[in-house]
Amino acid sequence: MAERLQKVIAAAGITSRRKAEQLILAGRVSVDGKKVTTLGTKVEPHQEVAVDDVPIKAQALHTYLFYKPRGVISAVSDNHGRRTVADYFADLPYRLYPIGRLDYDTSGLLLMTDDGDLANHLMHPRNEVPKVYVAKVEGALNGAAIHALKTGVQIKGHKASPAKVKILKTKQGHRTSQIVQLTIHEGHYHQVKLMLQAVGCPVQKLSRPRYAFLTLQGLSAGQYRELTPQEVDKLRHL
Ligand code: URA
Repeated sequence: MAERLQKVIAAAGITSRRKAEQLILAGRVSVDGKKVTTLGTKVEPHQEVAVDDVPIKAQALHTYLFYKPRGVISAVSDNHGRRTVADYFADLPYRLYPIGRLDYDTSGLLLMTDDGDLANHLMHPRNEVPKVYVAKVEGALNGAAIHALKTGVQIKGHKASPAKVKILKTKQGHRTSQIVQLTIHEGHYHQVKLMLQAVGCPVQKLSRPRYAFLTLQGLSAGQYRELTPQEVDKLRHL
């Protein structure tokens, strides 16, 4: 059944009907790719309504950038009663789940969403989303270790894809340690820990400050923010 445009936008949960009218009048709304500025224009269910070029169906889904603290599991429930990432979103009226995972003792950027298509897109190995990790390791990477990481180290019977490696800091002394930045595309279980273990430098502490073009800027551990429609759109096209 055809509906009035402002009602369709409001029903998608983006904004109120009044604000939807303002969006239409401001020329920010299109139907099937054509700008519509007339209030009350009727649209059919099969037609694509977009605000600022982002389809409203996509806008009605929710994706959050979460700064996962250490000591929280990347799941929506836990048999052992440990705190989960979903606990942080308990007050929101929709069910979000993590895109990929970070270990219990890893902190950093984790996306939370109810958008299954987006999650599948980002987790598909073909799409090679770059993830940046910073690890404190025991010992220091020598030339051979760096070369191995850059060309693809063997972990658990398979060869990891080549990583970008940057040494951020070296602490010499009785117990040498290093802060290492690794950029990888894969997301196997314990991937970074296994890669660094394989070259003789076990991980003591791990965080993920960056996922694709997104960073933790402005957030403290345990805080989150909703992604903008433009950011979600950019992730969809990675
Ligand atoms: N690699 C790991 O080893 N742990 C994480 O949490 C993420 C990547």
